[in-house]
Amino acid sequence: MELPEANETLSRRRFFVNGIKVVAGLLGLGLGIPLVGFFIAPALKKEQHDWIAIADLNLMNAGEPAKVTYQYTRRDGWKTAETRKTAFVVKHADGKITALTNKCTHLGCGVEWNASSKQFTCPCHGGVFDIQGNVTAGPPPKPLTRLMVKVEVNKIFIKDAQQ
Ligand code: FES
Repeated sequence: MELPEANETLSRRRFFVNGIKVVAGLLGLGLGIPLVGFFIAPALKKEQHDWIAIADLNLMNAGEPAKVTYQYTRRDGWKTAETRKTAFVVKHADGKITALTNKCTHLGCGVEWNASSKQFTCPCHGGVFDIQGNVTAGPPPKPLTRLMVKVEVNKIFIKDAQQ
């Protein structure tokens, strides 16, 4: 008659062991999932940078693009690198502000503002863009890329969405 009691003890022991395994597994999942997320999240994040103060609105002349160079820390997964880029900030006659990258959309040469013809010209293959960045001549397939712009307390800020 001792046999059923032994079985009952074994069964109770097995129950506690299994219970401990379940609790340990849940704890492992509870800690493991956030840890995996912590290590993988940077690789899934898109590069981002904050708004960059680039020019003083009061110093801008309408119709005269100002060439500016800006720098930000580029994050790509776990890697970071300092990135330096050039853009043109334009104050238009109606007071509107735009910012364009200086990269030609044909093969990426740096465009320059030609004050006499009032156009951006590309030295590589003769691409020409108007002050809005639209293609007016040459092989570029699309307008110059626009950057995000905001003005706060007479300071012009840009944000490079393409990063
Ligand atoms: S790179 Fe500008 S026209 Fe070709």
